[in-house]
Amino acid sequence: MLEAIGVSGDAIQKRDTICVICVICGQIEWTGFVIPSCLCGCDGISIDFCAYSVSLWFFECAESPEIPGAAILSTMSRGYFITFEGGEGTGKSTQLLLVNDWLKILRHTIVMTREPGGTRLAEAVRALLLDPELEPDGFSEIFLLEAARRDHVEQVIRPAIEDGAVVLCDRFTDSSLVYQGLVRGLGWKEVAGLNRLATGGLEPDLTLVFDMDPEAALRRAHSRNSEGSLRESRLDDEPAEFHRRVRDGFLELAEREPSRVQVIKAGGSPEEVFARVHPILPEALR
Ligand code: TYD
Repeated sequence: MLEAIGVSGDAIQKRDTICVICVICGQIEWTGFVIPSCLCGCDGISIDFCAYSVSLWFFECAESPEIPGAAILSTMSRGYFITFEGGEGTGKSTQLLLVNDWLKILRHTIVMTREPGGTRLAEAVRALLLDPELEPDGFSEIFLLEAARRDHVEQVIRPAIEDGAVVLCDRFTDSSLVYQGLVRGLGWKEVAGLNRLATGGLEPDLTLVFDMDPEAALRRAHSRNSEGSLRESRLDDEPAEFHRRVRDGFLELAEREPSRVQVIKAGGSPEEVFARVHPILPEALR
């Protein structure tokens, strides 16, 4: 079957299990094959996941009563916590959705959430923080953020991880370190202390920082705004220097915590960026 659709034997490696999904009926099956290189252009393959090692793969629609790979995944007792960070317009939210799609194929339970936000209380705080008519100083800002975070961690994030879910969070404590601690000048150590109080010490297992030139990123964000997909935000309206400092802050974060924080070059199409994200995703989730 694999040769019938034009993939040479060299391109195929044996591996424990890989998820394949029929692009016609959506049925999921598990096989022992993985295609390690870019799949783009191969007959019969969905190009949505081009270059992913877990691939959307055209295969004959056969009846498949059982999904043996599901048993392997359910042995993961504690969940996993991944945060997505970066300046405005770097595409982190798009990458979060792509990681979600990939994890769905692997049949993980996924919780997608964001900060500020993620609970009723925290979403109300978010509306205050992003209201262009309000001008809280850095201290008011951090206390609002940490109040929202406390609720979010206790109501959503920690229970989900304890239940074995993979939590994908758009921004988390590192945004406070960079935006409030560094850029607004409240101090790294001080904000780290407040973060610890709010989270009870919960930290992401992996943080992906999406990095690109802030001017290009802002052009991206503004074209998105003009398409009407993002509401006006007070923090989006900061001067260019602010966004340069945000970028430097995230790069500094990666230097301080190299084992947790990975920097991804965010230029290019969503598929190109995801091809850089995919190899970094932990083995435990595959
Ligand atoms: P959002 O629209 O989510 O921005 P983006 O799409 O860039 O993520 O707005 C969130 C804003 O809140 C963003 O400008 C960064 C800011 N922010 C902080 O300043 N500190 C924080 O701790 C968090 C979580 C966000």
